[in-house]
Amino acid sequence: MKQPFERILITAALPYANGYLHLGHLAGAYLPADIYARYQRLKKRNVLFICGSDEHGVAITVSAEKEKTIPKTIIDRYHPANKSVFEMFEMSFDNYSRTSLPLHHETTKEFFREFHSRDIVIAKKELQLYCDKDKMFLADRYVEGTCPKCKSTQARGDQCENCGTWLSQTELIDPKCKICGTTPVVRETTHWYFPLGKYQQRLVAYIDERNKRDGWKDNVLRYCDSWFKDGLQDRAVTRDLNWGVQVPVAGYEDKVIYVWFDAVLGYISSAKEWAAVNNKPDAWKEFWQKEDTKYVAFIGKDNVVFHCIVFPAMLMAWNDAHTDHYVLPENVPANEFLNFEGQKFSKSRGWGIDVQDFLKFFPADMLRYALAVNLPETRDSDFYLKDFQARINNELADIVGNFVNRTLAFTDKNYGGIVPQLGKLSALDEEMINTLKQTPIKTGELFEHYRFREGLMEVMNLARAANKYFNDNEPWKTFKSNPERCATTLHISIQLVRSLAILLEPVTPATSAKIWKLLNLNTPSKEDGWDSVSNFTMNDGHQLNKPEILINKIEDKQIDEITKFLEGSDKLQASLPIAPLKPTITIDDFKKIDLRVARVIEAVKVPKSDKLLKLQVEIGNERRQVIAGIAKHYKPEDLIGKLIVVVANLQPAKLMGQESQGMILAASDESGSLTLIGVQSEISLGATVK
Ligand code: MF3
Ligand code: ZN
Repeated sequence: MKQPFERILITAALPYANGYLHLGHLAGAYLPADIYARYQRLKKRNVLFICGSDEHGVAITVSAEKEKTIPKTIIDRYHPANKSVFEMFEMSFDNYSRTSLPLHHETTKEFFREFHSRDIVIAKKELQLYCDKDKMFLADRYVEGTCPKCKSTQARGDQCENCGTWLSQTELIDPKCKICGTTPVVRETTHWYFPLGKYQQRLVAYIDERNKRDGWKDNVLRYCDSWFKDGLQDRAVTRDLNWGVQVPVAGYEDKVIYVWFDAVLGYISSAKEWAAVNNKPDAWKEFWQKEDTKYVAFIGKDNVVFHCIVFPAMLMAWNDAHTDHYVLPENVPANEFLNFEGQKFSKSRGWGIDVQDFLKFFPADMLRYALAVNLPETRDSDFYLKDFQARINNELADIVGNFVNRTLAFTDKNYGGIVPQLGKLSALDEEMINTLKQTPIKTGELFEHYRFREGLMEVMNLARAANKYFNDNEPWKTFKSNPERCATTLHISIQLVRSLAILLEPVTPATSAKIWKLLNLNTPSKEDGWDSVSNFTMNDGHQLNKPEILINKIEDKQIDEITKFLEGSDKLQASLPIAPLKPTITIDDFKKIDLRVARVIEAVKVPKSDKLLKLQVEIGNERRQVIAGIAKHYKPEDLIGKLIVVVANLQPAKLMGQESQGMILAASDESGSLTLIGVQSEISLGATVK
């Protein structure tokens, strides 16, 4: 990057279009990216802010299979949903694209063809995991096993989410097919490999250089170092799947390009779409291919390897043979994770809260503020609803809201809403003005270095100082005793209200817009940029609008309502109290229970009962009838063929007039959810469970 830079390209990770966005996503990448983009626009810089949906890969096909539908159904549901949720959250993207667009497929193929024609990617026969039952290669998330590095049992075929290690699927310990649970076999297939290892030296130098120039975050540098230490390997960039960008090489049309290889190029195709939509077809090149562009890629920590290593290597490979060089990220400010009420967000466990649900209860600005003061910038952070309420009430309402309200109400009451005249400055005035002058500099410096939390703290400190200034000057007294003093106090306070509108805009844009309205000014004019924060632009005699409460406090009952909503939708299930433990038994006590694997052969409802099902189960070559209280949780037809576990030596009993020769095992929790205990893979009927 040539300095000073002329324009800023900002990207935020493309979320998978296979689920709704939750608060963790916002805190990880999107809110920081938006604060940065808004701040840079206020600095009058030429900004392009790009995002879109990631619509390929196994994340999408697995979701489709779960719903017994095709991938297109999934992406056509979540792409528009996420796009509109981002709008509700006031993300200021210049373009929100999607990777299923032909434009994106073309862009990806262009890169692949380029690498193919220059023999950068090479075809290699490799051993891959194959499921004999499902008759397919188990790409990426189709296989799960134990991570060779951190021993997490939920590592996927491409990556361990727990420790971030990038895996080759044959390294997985005890791999299992995600669809049917069986142990896959190893089979040969041909894939195209990108020689990451060849770029290692240049990548190390690149990161070093950018770090020196722009100060990379420690967590990001640590992740990169650990990959470098292990040594970068050739990586397969194709997959045996039928969903994705088709491999543009004759004879390989039945394969697709690996999702990560296409997704990162989504940043480029989204910029192309933006340019086309705005009738400036080449404008994207200004941002992507001029060396005086500063490119910043915002992501969550699980995306580091792809953005700091894979994507730059791809761009280097392209740049090596072209004069139009793509810019590489100047920085990749990855955040850690946000926990919700003390636990990790988890789609599979239904833990957490979706953004669209949250925004049904509270305005976007409240969420933006509460997340911003709590961003997981250096370590994982926690979001608690009670905390959220306290932050909004004690900070946004009591400090910012209060200062704006008291200033405007006092002016309205005593000056008819007309900005009073600035008189001679007192020591307190000078001190206040000095603090005001420091704030945009300090906050700007912090925002430039991706320290949004601390940057916001400085703004809040200014608002605190403004309240203190108002108190110390006691205008309610000086209004009579020293009118010039009072007018000056209020004049300065009104200037401070305007300053806060600008300073807060990156974090709480709707609140700022409301302040501009209360000030009876057109939402920021050209002159109202970041560098004008401490200028006194409110003229004596300017008429303000009627004051209105800026921030309404959150009442306890609103927190109760959202809590109830979460419980109702099972979202808080994971925090349910567990049933009390029973007294200890000996191993001999336990051995008395004979547990056996059985298969459900028939299942019908027990007449006149809404709880009981009558099951015929097979244990070895013995057949039994078992009455089970699971009718509220399972449809009879869904049970046929299922492998379950029964207590085989339980004394027979009659339930609703029906004989029951055993009991089936199920797990249930305090919320009343229930799930049957099954076995992980085929095993003969009658097998003992110990
Ligand atoms: N879809 C990925 C995720 O949600 C992020 C992709 S970022 C990309 O983790 F742009 F590189 F695609
Ligand atoms: Zn399988």
